Amino acid sequence: MKRAQELARLKPWFERARDFSGWDLSKVRPRLIEPAPAWDYETIVRQYGLGKRDALDMGTGGGELLARIREALPARTTATEEWNVNAPIAKKRLAPLGVEIVRCRSLLLPFVESAFDLVINRHEELEPREVARVLSVGGHVVTQQVGRDNWSELRSFFPMMTDFGDLYGNYIRGFESAGLQIIRKNQHDYKVAYRDLGEIVFLLAISPWSFPGFSPEGDLDALLALESDYLTEDGLVLTESRFLIIAEK
Ligand SMILES: C[S@@+](CC[C@H](N)C(=O)[O-])C[C@H]1O[C@@H](n2cnc3c(N)ncnc32)[C@H](O)[C@@H]1O
Repeated sequence: MKRAQELARLKPWFERARDFSGWDLSKVRPRLIEPAPAWDYETIVRQYGLGKRDALDMGTGGGELLARIREALPARTTATEEWNVNAPIAKKRLAPLGVEIVRCRSLLLPFVESAFDLVINRHEELEPREVARVLSVGGHVVTQQVGRDNWSELRSFFPMMTDFGDLYGNYIRGFESAGLQIIRKNQHDYKVAYRDLGEIVFLLAISPWSFPGFSPEGDLDALLALESDYLTEDGLVLTESRFLIIAEK
């Protein structure tokens, strides 16, 4: 009986996740318990957009972020999107803004060498050699990524949670060995409070690459154990991890 009640409590969040498309997470923004990263990705991308001729946004999602900063980027701006659900959503939002949408994976970019003088990438997988290949000499890559310790509290509850390894170190070394010069690198971990377990359910369910096979029934015990261990007066307190890399070819 208790189980059925718990499932019913969390069900609306699974349903929201099932219907989710694009990439607008403004409604599940956690409260800061510790200071957020000192950098602001959008501000930095706007700065690096100045004077550029050809920009690429990798894995644009529904194009929400790119639409917000469109005017700071060159007239010739391209976005990639792999997911068949989001590619048409991005196209609808971005084509009227003069952005070309290319449906492709991010690890093998269908562009000629030196096609762009700016590559931006927020929270999308990348292959440093590929990014370096499509950049022209003097061009920049600006990327913000989720760090290895993100939600480290969850790992013991959800053994399926993907460990992407030391992406921060791997990307820095990868860019350097592809001939790029690192201009800036920062990593920052900080505690935040999610309002309740429902928000966590939603976020896990919309990130199948990090939580493959996550399901309400199969993972209910793990979810309740997490709540019992980590729910505080502030909400569910977890570690967020982000890093920023800016490199020049
Ligand atoms: C974390 S999203 C970031 C999107 C965008 N760069 C931003 O920062 O707003 C990274 C990529 O995952 C894709 N994605 C989102 N949900 C997905 C799903 N359920 N299956 C496969 N890919 C998904 C997005 O479309 C996007 O290409």
